[in-house]
Amino acid sequence: LALALCVSAGGDFDWTKNEKTSFYYGTFPTGFSWGVGSSAYQTEGAWNTDGKGMSIWDVFAHKKGKISSNETGDSSCEGYYKFKDDINLMKEMKLNHYRFSVSWPRILPSGLRSEHVNEKGIRYYSDLIDLLLDSKITPVVTLYHWDLPQVLQEKYGGWQNASMVGYFNEFANLCFERFGNRVKHWITFNNPWSISVEGYETGEHAPGLRMRGSGAYKAAHHIIKAHAKVWHTYDMKWRSKQKGLIGISLTADWGEPVDVSNQRDVEAAERYIHFYLGWFATPLFHGDYPAVMKEYIGTFTLCSGRKSGQQGLGASRLPVFSPQEKSYVRGTVDFLGLGHYTTRYVTQKNYPSGFGDSYFADRDLAELVDPKWPDPGSEWLYSVPWGFRRLLNFVKTQYGNPMIYVTENGVSEKMQCTDLCDDWRMQYFREYINELLKAVRDGVNVKGYTAWSLLDGFEWDEGFSERFGLYFVDFRNKNKPRFPKASVQFYKRIISSNGFPN
Ligand code: NOJ
Repeated sequence: LALALCVSAGGDFDWTKNEKTSFYYGTFPTGFSWGVGSSAYQTEGAWNTDGKGMSIWDVFAHKKGKISSNETGDSSCEGYYKFKDDINLMKEMKLNHYRFSVSWPRILPSGLRSEHVNEKGIRYYSDLIDLLLDSKITPVVTLYHWDLPQVLQEKYGGWQNASMVGYFNEFANLCFERFGNRVKHWITFNNPWSISVEGYETGEHAPGLRMRGSGAYKAAHHIIKAHAKVWHTYDMKWRSKQKGLIGISLTADWGEPVDVSNQRDVEAAERYIHFYLGWFATPLFHGDYPAVMKEYIGTFTLCSGRKSGQQGLGASRLPVFSPQEKSYVRGTVDFLGLGHYTTRYVTQKNYPSGFGDSYFADRDLAELVDPKWPDPGSEWLYSVPWGFRRLLNFVKTQYGNPMIYVTENGVSEKMQCTDLCDDWRMQYFREYINELLKAVRDGVNVKGYTAWSLLDGFEWDEGFSERFGLYFVDFRNKNKPRFPKASVQFYKRIISSNGFPN
């Protein structure tokens, strides 16, 4: 019924007016991998079941005023209990891979391997992996999708502390030991930009700290080192036996200059992307932070705005890699996971005096959106398909055309009613996947695509008010039933034809 309804309900929207977009008919290379994604805290529920420890998200979501409507991920989709049903949904869609994350405190309740390994937690992931493989679905496993064990936050200050590098490595090593005979695609971190900026500067995400000035840069620095350490552990200890790949998932919007003929706008847009993707990608591919970050951060603290290249007062707030560290972090990505949702126009703007030091002031730019861009759900998510192709081409030229898996792409809706006719999502997927196809034709080395997300889930500070799922989840019903939105069939069609054959 829902699908039948959609045919007529789609007529009112005109989503075809995205500038710079024209449709390209063709298919993806043979073997291209199609999947969906999820993360532990967003979908598992079972927050205090079977010996699981607390994560920073359990604690953060329980504090009043942090999450829209004070919702929590305590039960969410109950994915912990329903993974067999969910794998059936994936089988029906004929997916090639499933991206999910391991909850660190579910298998190491105190964060530390030396203290206690929770075998029930290990068992859950082990069963999930086995069933995926029986179903011919490749598991793609993220080790850190934001749910740090709370003890590590309390004792050490979380990612502010260099000791996290070693603790994360122990946790990762345990995962390789227990799951690596079956898992061949590993992602160390999901979206370190968000962990650093939203966790340690704006405080919108757990652990909710507002350390303006250097907190985000410090967190990022430790995350980059932790990623590199885990890559080396895998490379030295496990690779020859397990023969897998290990990468990182970076999320970035695209920044387009407002006026391409204005040099200041062009430079502002470059800063936008280098402070976003480049912050992490440049050390991992080239061994150091982007030059423009080194130039702009903490070198000028007077009030009158910043002039490019001007040396200012005091030490830089951007941590420094030693020569040994540079060579240690360089080249530690077997594949780049890329998350992408939207685009901004960017223009030069000096931050007003008194704004203080912060990641946002450091970039010295303003973001604009085109009022014509469709924005069905999240306030930040405008549908701008052509930005995706530009981002992919940027990665190709900046980082030597690495192997890429798109690890996230999708769109949300704000609706709470059971509206399964998500024509805006079908339109979004159609156009974004088409831009991906054009990028493949441009020579970008993309091996797979992951739609975000399988299910509606706990959308962080937005709680359940934003729905990214291909499947609608009725959160008011304690059984958390799933209902396919129209985009399930639509995505299935793209998968079965491997693109858009003419
Ligand atoms: C990025 C995050 O990795 C994911 O957890 C989230 O649901 C999506 N963006 C959508 O906001």
